[in-house]
Amino acid sequence: VSRADGEGRRADRALIEGAAAALKANFGARALTLAAAPGRVNLIGEHTDYNLGFVLPMAIDRWCVVAAAPGPRAGEHRVHSVQTGSTLAGPVLAESHAGAGWSAYPLGALAELARYAGIRDPRPLDLAINSGVPLGSGLSSSASLLVAVVTAAAAAWGVELGPLVRARIAQRAEHVHAGVPCGIMDPAASSMGEAGHALLIDCADETIRTVRLPPGVGVLVGDTGVRHALAGGEYAARRRSCEAAARALGAASLRDVTPERLEADAGLLQDDQLACARHVLSENRRVLEFVERVSAGDARGAGALMGASHRSLRDDFRVSCPELDAMVEIASGLPGVLGSRMTGGGFGGCTVTLCESASVDRFARDLSAKYRERTGRDGRVFAVEPVAGAGKIEESIGGS
Ligand code: GLA
Repeated sequence: VSRADGEGRRADRALIEGAAAALKANFGARALTLAAAPGRVNLIGEHTDYNLGFVLPMAIDRWCVVAAAPGPRAGEHRVHSVQTGSTLAGPVLAESHAGAGWSAYPLGALAELARYAGIRDPRPLDLAINSGVPLGSGLSSSASLLVAVVTAAAAAWGVELGPLVRARIAQRAEHVHAGVPCGIMDPAASSMGEAGHALLIDCADETIRTVRLPPGVGVLVGDTGVRHALAGGEYAARRRSCEAAARALGAASLRDVTPERLEADAGLLQDDQLACARHVLSENRRVLEFVERVSAGDARGAGALMGASHRSLRDDFRVSCPELDAMVEIASGLPGVLGSRMTGGGFGGCTVTLCESASVDRFARDLSAKYRERTGRDGRVFAVEPVAGAGKIEESIGGS
């Protein structure tokens, strides 16, 4: 029951059964389709995706599971979330589901899939969503939800999709229906992850190279417990600064600007634009160097680049916060640690740390204790594994 198609795609059985049970309890289950999509953690390459640069995320062993069945009401989808406990409905035909609260995500994903597939009169669906990705923590709870919904609905509607197209549909749903001008990283990682590997994505041409994680190294996530309400507006503002910087330099994107050119023409930019551009250009270089170091077996050298990435995000890009800084600083001083940084959009959420495998348990204990001492907050620290991307879950669940 707990296996999806393809090696390494394993969502928790409890999560899958919970989704199927919620579908039955809320809508009365009929023939159902199940899909799972993982969250992600980004090892390095932050705020570079929408600047057409490089990122290095990995899909993690935390999933969003969606159970779908044909809906009985003409022209209307219904969606239930186990985590919020609420059920919402929305029209199958809508230009935008902006303002529909959390249901803008699943309804938007359905709308964009129908649009992509040229389905004029989409068959109504009932969806039950059960997510094991901590909500709003910067581990792509939203991208995993979108990718899981697209995967389930494509199966229910008989639409064939490649994994990159699926990621683009999810990204468009977030732009059009949730109003977040995000890059391709999160849905790409959720859709295209590979067990045991991170993904080096060149966001200019959306090509992907898998990068094996070094042996003897564990990846840990530290959730600061901070959820920043301003994150959405600040994200869009940073994106605008980057685009303005590229325009002022006569480039289509910051990808086309070299560090030498940036310093030579620094006078053309406002201070915030220059600082943002410095981060993006240096971060792109760090991603490529990180991959080189990892491939050469130099995990310590790779880890040092994570520290530099954090400082650049804190000082130049200005998307960190005191709790993220505290967690990274504490982590960096613990035994066995190779490198630590904030991960995701910033303003709260999570850190990512590379640590020697032998020290992982002690690290998790010490980091959460010291973080609580320093900030008075509960910080959840846990190890994550790189897993394969989203898939339909083939086995049927009892009772359907
Ligand atoms: C969020 C966005 C991504 C990316 C990161 C920052 O997670 O969804 O597209 O821009 O922030 O690297």
